[in-house]
Amino acid sequence: MSSELAAVARAMVAPGKGILAADESTGTANKRFTPLGIPETEEMRRNYRDMLFTMPEFGSYFSGVILYDETIRQNGRAGKSFVDVLQSDASFPGIKLDTGVQPLALAKPEEKITEGLDGLAKRVDEYVKLGAKFAKWRAVITIDEKTGIPTDACLHANAHALARYAAICQAGGLVPIVEPEVLSDGNAAQSIETSFAVHERTLHHVFNELHRLNVKYEEMVLKPSMVVPGQKSGSKASVSEVAERTLTILMRCVPAAVAGIAFLSGGQGDEEATAHLNELNVLGKKLGAPWPLTFSYGRALQHAALTTWKGDDKNVDAAQKAIHHRAQMNSLASLGTWSADAEKGLVLSR
Ligand code: 13P
Repeated sequence: MSSELAAVARAMVAPGKGILAADESTGTANKRFTPLGIPETEEMRRNYRDMLFTMPEFGSYFSGVILYDETIRQNGRAGKSFVDVLQSDASFPGIKLDTGVQPLALAKPEEKITEGLDGLAKRVDEYVKLGAKFAKWRAVITIDEKTGIPTDACLHANAHALARYAAICQAGGLVPIVEPEVLSDGNAAQSIETSFAVHERTLHHVFNELHRLNVKYEEMVLKPSMVVPGQKSGSKASVSEVAERTLTILMRCVPAAVAGIAFLSGGQGDEEATAHLNELNVLGKKLGAPWPLTFSYGRALQHAALTTWKGDDKNVDAAQKAIHHRAQMNSLASLGTWSADAEKGLVLSR
């Protein structure tokens, strides 16, 4: 089966390429700027995104970028719209469509539902006219072993919203990135075994709802979290355990027709996220995983660049080198050919 959307979805996960998540809301972008003393202004957010998107060889590593509403309407510093900047580098502009999370009514405390479905078809039309080719919606699943969350009610409500969003995107001409994130950062204290079990429940709910609402798997990209222990669990898993557990869940829950899987980084360290992706690909090849496995990182791609840039024009070159390096390392990891030597710059070719 082929269609224009299926072709876009396949191109988003083309060999050696991944997706840059740069869709931080104004509030989140400001929160990242504050500790570095960067002024929290529209101009600085534009300058920051301009630094990222004009990185040399951008399109060789990034098949697309997830943008926030402010950015998809902005011009870069040279006067061209960011949409044109990306398109001229063969990178698809994408758009964050959810409007954030709210407490889920009548559920347990800490359970959240992602909002943004009202009027969504109209917003999709507008973003398609602005040049968007794909979209993202993030559902957030919190684990608390003491209070017994997530409940099935929370998993079902979030899976249903993801499927409604995905169907509206496909009907309106956008490839949906379906992102159910099982949180492992912040206060997350679950063991890797619990994370494994919750990922399995979550993905079963998500694919049940996608199927029920007629979402075409060939025209979507899944953006899952990896199966890792919670950051406050006090335990650490080996790279091979993370890859093994994550792939086991994906093989159980994700239909082979899905165009590709692009992971979020979820608070992992820069190199840690790369090492996990590499191992997932090495193991995926052995097990015959049917989908491309790549990256759609936010923090693990941007962290080094942002802390190098610090809002100062004279740091633009160094900051672009920093994101270029992470892009190159994750590109290698998406092919299963990354190594610690590559990280140190000892192996340069892809
Ligand atoms: P992180 O890689 O920083 O988790 O962000 C990815 C993302 O798009 C979250 O919605």
